[in-house]
Amino acid sequence: MLEISKRFHDLFGRGPEVIAAAPGRVNLIGEHIDYSDGFVLPFAISDTTVVAIAKRSDNLIRIASVQKRTDIMEMQLGELAPYQGESWARYALGVLWVLGVDTGVEVLINGRVPLGAGLSSSAALECAVATAVNHLFEMGKSLPELARATQKAENDYVGVPCGIMDQSVSLMAHPGSALLLDCRDLTSEHIPFLIAPQGLELLIIDTQAHHKLVDGGYAERRASCEKAVAELGITSLRNISVAEYAARQSELDPVTYIRGFHAVTEMKRVLDAVEALKSNNFTRLGELLNQSHRSLRDDYTVSCPELNLAVDTALAQGALGARMVGGGFGGSAIALIRTDHVKRCQGAITKAFAEANFKAPRFFTSLPSAGAHVIPN
Ligand code: GLA
Repeated sequence: MLEISKRFHDLFGRGPEVIAAAPGRVNLIGEHIDYSDGFVLPFAISDTTVVAIAKRSDNLIRIASVQKRTDIMEMQLGELAPYQGESWARYALGVLWVLGVDTGVEVLINGRVPLGAGLSSSAALECAVATAVNHLFEMGKSLPELARATQKAENDYVGVPCGIMDQSVSLMAHPGSALLLDCRDLTSEHIPFLIAPQGLELLIIDTQAHHKLVDGGYAERRASCEKAVAELGITSLRNISVAEYAARQSELDPVTYIRGFHAVTEMKRVLDAVEALKSNNFTRLGELLNQSHRSLRDDYTVSCPELNLAVDTALAQGALGARMVGGGFGGSAIALIRTDHVKRCQGAITKAFAEANFKAPRFFTSLPSAGAHVIPN
């Protein structure tokens, strides 16, 4: 019997009906452009959140987490409503709310995606719940439909104005590939991302930094991109070339202009990165990662000293490229680096962090892994 089935049984006195897992993600390139209709190129990491679920015959919702042993969160179906405090269960409740579940359920969550590392543990939880509910209630929803539903849960129930990237890749990823996702219509292409045979690794550096700007800073950047679109009278930043955007600089205030400039240049870098991957040109991929970091640091201003130190130290250790990933103001950076340099690079980053009096960083590596799936019970 699966460990989660056993625990479900211990907690709720019977076995689950459906078990589903969904992964966290790392974004190779295409940062802060999912909400501007851009292309992004994330992949799923091997760490997943697993959810076990069973229907009840009444309207009670009971949610427990392996990580929060003593807590069972209980709520009546009719009480599901947005913005109800900070409970860890709100990501799961939001998904039940948005999918319009019509009977009570028991849910057990085993979250194995590192929390607070910028690896989308919240999207993993939402997508595992959505996959399990879709299966249990035979809703027949497609992956893009589940992506939109889970994003809505996070936007409208939890109250975080995130884009669609994290949920999409958690649902749609294939092993061995990065997901080229068109955030305008959620069409996608799986781009092989096999770096081990090239003697390369993608080191994930969790800076363990969480700066307060995270929430307000994200919403403010998003608002700047919307302002640029409105003032230029275009339908989205996707629909303007870098040259055309630059030619219209005088129509925007400096902050709006430079933030939009990040978006239009990042969209181009994603397509260039796909070309680089398709031709196995990892030197070029590294350059694009570096350009992306500089744009996020200097133009979009969402980096922070810890992320910059991780990136600079990795480059000094011979990484082909490195950049911050995710929303910024903390969380993780990635470095594309030769496998035989990884240990040395980790040591140098740990030392540099200690010298700067930063919290000790954590390191992960992960091959591109599978998206959400039901696990045979
Ligand atoms: C967070 C959001 C995503 C995306 C990234 C930045 O992870 O959840 O939607 O906007 O930041 O690329």
